[in-house]
Amino acid sequence: MTDCIIVLDFGGQYCHLIARRIRELNVYSEIVSPEITAEAIEDYRDCRVRGIIISGGPQSVYSERIKFDKNILNLDLGILGLCYGHQLIAYSTGGGVETAGKKEFGITTAIIDKPEGILKGLNRTERVWMSHSDTVTRIPDDYEILAHTQNSPIAAYRHKTKHIYGLQWHPEVVHTENGMRIFRNFVLEICGAKPNWRMDNFVENSVSEIRERVGDRTAVIALSGGVDSSVAAILTARAIGKNLVSVFVDTGLMRKNEPEQIEKMFRNLHLNLRVIDARSRFFKSLKGVKDPEKKRKIIGENFIRVFEEAAKDIDAKVLVQGTIYPDRIESGTRYASTIKSHHNVGGLPDKLKLEILEPLAELYKDEVRVVAKDLGLPKDITERMPFPGPALAIRVIGEITPERINIVRRADAVVNEEIRRAKADMNIWQSFAVLLPLKSVGVQGDTRTYKNTIAIRIVESRDGMTANFARIPYDILERISTRITNEIPAVNRVVYDLTHKPPATIEWE
Ligand code: XMP
Repeated sequence: MTDCIIVLDFGGQYCHLIARRIRELNVYSEIVSPEITAEAIEDYRDCRVRGIIISGGPQSVYSERIKFDKNILNLDLGILGLCYGHQLIAYSTGGGVETAGKKEFGITTAIIDKPEGILKGLNRTERVWMSHSDTVTRIPDDYEILAHTQNSPIAAYRHKTKHIYGLQWHPEVVHTENGMRIFRNFVLEICGAKPNWRMDNFVENSVSEIRERVGDRTAVIALSGGVDSSVAAILTARAIGKNLVSVFVDTGLMRKNEPEQIEKMFRNLHLNLRVIDARSRFFKSLKGVKDPEKKRKIIGENFIRVFEEAAKDIDAKVLVQGTIYPDRIESGTRYASTIKSHHNVGGLPDKLKLEILEPLAELYKDEVRVVAKDLGLPKDITERMPFPGPALAIRVIGEITPERINIVRRADAVVNEEIRRAKADMNIWQSFAVLLPLKSVGVQGDTRTYKNTIAIRIVESRDGMTANFARIPYDILERISTRITNEIPAVNRVVYDLTHKPPATIEWE
């Protein structure tokens, strides 16, 4: 049985990054309910549990909204509490937790008082990433302090004899410089997990599993052109051939030439493809809607309805989805606050009675990219920039009309043409244009104008969870700006978004 580390999900925004980092060490990791009992951990069947990480979360230990089984702390396993988890262990063992006079958000310097155990090999001072309001102020006698910061006297601690540790900061976030070193110490040394989890056999195993599960029934998948649904489709098509029908819904909200490119690409890959033109349906139902969450809901619902009709028509029995591991967490677990409702997770009415097949449900994005390469998918797919399910609709702030979508589509094309041309040494995660619900005065050809504003958003990120605005050279920004105002008559002003995530998100809605 594979060794694994389980992560108790108390709803922290970075919870799945923890599992991701552990998998980078070739140790399998799963995210589980925070209310899991010590007994259930002892009986765990998916893998052999070697250690437990208690995640961060939005609540305070005093709310006790989520029931934590304290017996977990008596299991003879490595245990690590991060942020809220750090406070929870202290609180559950009789320590003190108080609302900090000064909150700490962002990069902080930690002073490592004892570079031992989980902090082995770290420097006297370390750049770490924090995001908390409550602070541990007291620990029981059988615990000792390992590190502090200016505002957190007990930023890291350990039990003197058991393998229990707590860290107020987030080693899973890339801004913590030696985060991976901390995980290596915990996972490989303290928990003694064997790093033998590999993805080499994924394609072979999953093709035969899909073949066995689907048999000679018909399956259907909605293609978005993104890497996840593409990989899920190709894997399934390898297993069941033409019995998989791939449906592409043209919502009218895609980028320039995207529907045509997607159609061409999948026909070349010999997929059994159906393209549905649903443009007028989407625009009709979005008419007058300005609220971002309403837009997302309407798009999601319409998409499901169109797809439902197609599935009925095909008489499909199995629904294949490109859901990946973070999708299951990002849409808000019971415990996390919903930041945005991602529209691509499940949701077809039960009455269709489709069996759901999610071949990528255990994988992270970069793992899917590895599979995509193994499957021989073209670079257009494997290296495609992330693009949100609700597409350009969430990049037109305010009301959506075909005209306004067209403005942002043209601006987006300019941004990406110029970025592609200059890309050589830039490490860009996403680049796009946003149409603001704002007109301003300009002067073009000696005449006063009163026209739209485009915001340019270009970010660097490793995983989309945190991001920095990219320091794009001015001459590239100038070219983008000049081209947009010259080529799109409805725009007379271009601004550049200078905000990191957090506090902003990558998309504007
Ligand atoms: P935010 O805006 O939350 O975005 O910082 C993080 C990443 O997720 C993408 N995104 C989505 N992807 N469906 C998706 O498949 C969605 O509804 C959705 N909303 C945002 C966003 O483009 C960025 O890469």
